Amino acid sequence: MAQNRFQTHHGMKDILPGESEKWRYVEDIIKKTAREFHFSEIRTPVLEQTELIARGVGQLTDIVSKEMFTFERGEDNYVLRPECTAPVARAFVEHHLDQRGGVQKLFYIGPMFRAERPQKGRQRQFHQFGAELIGSSDPIADVEIIRFMMRIYEKIGLKNITLQLNSVGNPESRNNYREALQNYFRPHLNELSEVSQARFETNPMRILDSKEDEDQKWVADAPLITDYLSEECQSHYAEVKRLLNELGIPYTENPLLVRGLDYYTRTAFELTSTDLGSQDALGGGGRYDLLIEEVGGKPTPAVGFASGIERLMIACESLDIPLGENDFPDVYIITRGDKARNWAVKAIDQIRNTGISATMDYSGRSIKAQMKDANRQEATYAVIVGDSELETGLFTFRNMKESEEELLPFEKILQKLIHA
Ligand code: HAM
Repeated sequence: MAQNRFQTHHGMKDILPGESEKWRYVEDIIKKTAREFHFSEIRTPVLEQTELIARGVGQLTDIVSKEMFTFERGEDNYVLRPECTAPVARAFVEHHLDQRGGVQKLFYIGPMFRAERPQKGRQRQFHQFGAELIGSSDPIADVEIIRFMMRIYEKIGLKNITLQLNSVGNPESRNNYREALQNYFRPHLNELSEVSQARFETNPMRILDSKEDEDQKWVADAPLITDYLSEECQSHYAEVKRLLNELGIPYTENPLLVRGLDYYTRTAFELTSTDLGSQDALGGGGRYDLLIEEVGGKPTPAVGFASGIERLMIACESLDIPLGENDFPDVYIITRGDKARNWAVKAIDQIRNTGISATMDYSGRSIKAQMKDANRQEATYAVIVGDSELETGLFTFRNMKESEEELLPFEKILQKLIHA
């Protein structure tokens, strides 16, 4: 009878040894940078109430209308979180984080889920790192978020990236703009793509985001949001740009930048890379001054970003940027006979207690097979022990790279390893 073979779900991937070291390296940089910027980690469950995401992200967005993994259990309706801003807003309100005083600076790393059509750089389970700064409407907060995001990419050494910047205004600016867009597109409605026609009434700003060829010539001459911003929104945007200039963070203004989530107000940004192919957004974010109230809290301004880790990995790979070192063992203990194996179990403990990584054979293989295994695992050193070594107290200490050996007491070997 044919055996069942199980596989990961379409668009979801296992992160295997060889790759997981790179993930850890990237995660360490994120955590270290968060420490430098004084952002504290928040971990929220992967399941949230569907209603929270629908209200937070927006009923009419692609994410909510087409891409949610939802579950029913009893009366409750859950969704695998497609992003983390609405969950963080929920946690902020639920735990009264405002009562801790001052602004809340939070960061997260974790899996998100969107039932999109998988392709390079687009998965159904993917990972984001992101940050949310809650409780300030000051442009300094917007720039702090952008600085934090950019600093991580700088540390990793990613090149060919562009920060695209826009302001999508407050609801009033946006209503005026929406009307102007509808007036502009109305005479050409029949010439627009089907997707854009559907967006005309519900969300005309998303027409600007269209990838369809037939829309491009109309989009090119469409009115720009920047001409419809209220005075406050204009001066907020001007201050964000001034501060970015001050910090020497390059950006490109893109008045057509509309994000795929509905909660944004004022600042919106996206970090794109030319090394990613069609899914070119490494990360994105912006200000969302109305979301906290939308999910049941007091009016609280906030700004944040999130970036895809898989896309970061793809960009690094195409630029040959190394992501940390492989986790080779420092020492492999090669044993001959039961007594030697017994000795090794204790010796390996002593080695590890000094912070050195060590491994050994776990299945009584021949010396030759163990040597081969030590080479395969790229161990830096091998310690070879059998009955005669145990009698004399002198063990073979082999430098695997140089193929050099010496006979030494265990204490001496330990000293050499510590000072290597
Ligand atoms: P987003 O633009 O939907 O924003 O996602 C941020 C990043 O997550 C994208 O730029 C991309 O790198 C990655 N990403 C999104 N979908 C996928 C996918 N299917 N496969 C692989 N990577 C993907 C947000 O999620 C907002 N919560 C950002 C934010 C935080 N705004 C304010 N605070």
